[in-house]
Amino acid sequence: MATIGLAPKTKPTTPKTGIEAKDRAKIAKALETVLADTYTLLVKTHVYHWNVVGPLFLPLHHLTEEHYKDLFAAADEIAERIRALGKPAPVSFEALLPRASVEEETTNRSAGGMIEQLIEDHENIVTRLREAALSAEEADDLVTTDMLTARMAFHEKAIWMLRATANK
Ligand SMILES: [Fe+2]
Repeated sequence: MATIGLAPKTKPTTPKTGIEAKDRAKIAKALETVLADTYTLLVKTHVYHWNVVGPLFLPLHHLTEEHYKDLFAAADEIAERIRALGKPAPVSFEALLPRASVEEETTNRSAGGMIEQLIEDHENIVTRLREAALSAEEADDLVTTDMLTARMAFHEKAIWMLRATANK
């Protein structure tokens, strides 16, 4: 049958890259949280892009577009790092969501409320990213540390831009 070759499913692998198996598992778990936060913030940012109204419409519409595009590209990079560490990526958003520290949006906010919420989320994510980056470094996983440091730079720049937009 032609389907025989299609039977295998994703399973953990054991890349011999000098990172201990227990450390790879721990880092992959931390990256699931980073992925969950990135996706949750991506959806929230995209929804704000659509719903924003008022005098800040244009700057916030443009800034959120820049941000959701970055977050989407980052989600891909983070999930692929989980795979490179030998672990399967989460199979669904439902499986991923409980790992998130950022909460989904449930209300219809003003432009000012959107900015406040985004600042809070970006700040929370940066704090978690720093912990994950330092713990990956402790495990000699410099590739993950490098990736997470770049993610921190994005979020810190986003915080600056959002604060500057609202003069906060
Ligand atoms: Fe758009």
